Amino acid sequence: MKYYFAPLEGITGYVYRNAHHKFFPGTDRYYTPFVAPNYTKHFKTKEKRDVAPENNAGVPLVPQVLSNKADETLWAVEELAQLGYEEINLNLGCPMPTVARKKKGSGLLKFTDELDAYLDGVFEGIARRPSDSPPVRISVKTRLGTDSTQEAEELVRIYNRYPISELIVHPRSQEDLYKGTPDRDAFLFVWQNSVNPIVYNGNINCAEDVSEIARVCAEASRADGGAGEKAGKQLECVMAGRGFLSDPSLVRQCQGGELISARELEAFHAELYEKLSETLPGSAVVLSHMKELWYYMGNMFPEGGKCLKEIRRAGNRVQYEAAVRVLLSSCRIVRPGSGF
Ligand SMILES: Cc1cc2nc3c(=O)[nH]c(=O)nc-3n(C[C@H](O)[C@H](O)[C@H](O)COP(=O)(O)O)c2cc1C
Repeated sequence: MKYYFAPLEGITGYVYRNAHHKFFPGTDRYYTPFVAPNYTKHFKTKEKRDVAPENNAGVPLVPQVLSNKADETLWAVEELAQLGYEEINLNLGCPMPTVARKKKGSGLLKFTDELDAYLDGVFEGIARRPSDSPPVRISVKTRLGTDSTQEAEELVRIYNRYPISELIVHPRSQEDLYKGTPDRDAFLFVWQNSVNPIVYNGNINCAEDVSEIARVCAEASRADGGAGEKAGKQLECVMAGRGFLSDPSLVRQCQGGELISARELEAFHAELYEKLSETLPGSAVVLSHMKELWYYMGNMFPEGGKCLKEIRRAGNRVQYEAAVRVLLSSCRIVRPGSGF
């Protein structure tokens, strides 16, 4: 099984990715939060910094692009390919209303003619690149509909027309945002009908969740009937976001390794805190970023309610550092439960 770290805008920037890769090696790929080239065809300073090869040395990284215009996407692909990236991921999953309203991310999915035209423009542009251009693959990260995951059937028909290197499927619709559990039946429909390689994404919280989704995929392949390749098809890749953030050692556990120790978490936290303090403008921003991380990492401490509250309330660095020390020295880390 291969493990991909999902992009999480505002959280999994290069500082986080570097620290995670250093302390918990084993993740096969990290995806950047989306960069959004608009009609001006330039990247913002923050986006440039996040994809700069010197800020990502040694980290297996796939940049992600959010757009609904083929020319803007192709511009971004070329810029990123020139930096040495061999795969670019297209975001067709972002559910945020500000994005979806502009027919971007999962907001484009119900406009199937426009989606088809967008992908056609992108893949045609890729096919026409001069033969001496650096090679580049296009993968897609998608939800399964704007209004409902019932849209999956039409979406697969469209995706099957293009040589997508990997189709990363988060089986919720834009309407669902992050509510409820992912729609497993809709995922299995895609699994059974896609001609492109599939990656599962959604609510993977523990090692058993990976085995479970791999098991249902294998079962569905067998049920497809017949012999041959399709019947033996296995799920080879999963992507996780909030599960990996909540417990940064989850990849290791999925690979048969140990749960994170308090000492490891302390070292990981110290690195993040130090590097974020060097790169973010001022203590208030650093503290708010660290508190956002604890929103997820706090899940490792089901008995840590009071200590986590102190972290949330910390008004300055001294209070914050003291609250983290108390949490790490007095609360027990617990293996995560299932997200399904
Ligand atoms: C705060 C936040 C930011 C996100 N930013 C992105 C993003 O930039 N690009 C993207 O494709 N998905 C983004 N996602 C979605 C995640 O990559 C992932 O698909 C989703 O959280 C479901 O997977 P999970 O249950 O493993 O977290 C974001 C999710 C959250 C909660």
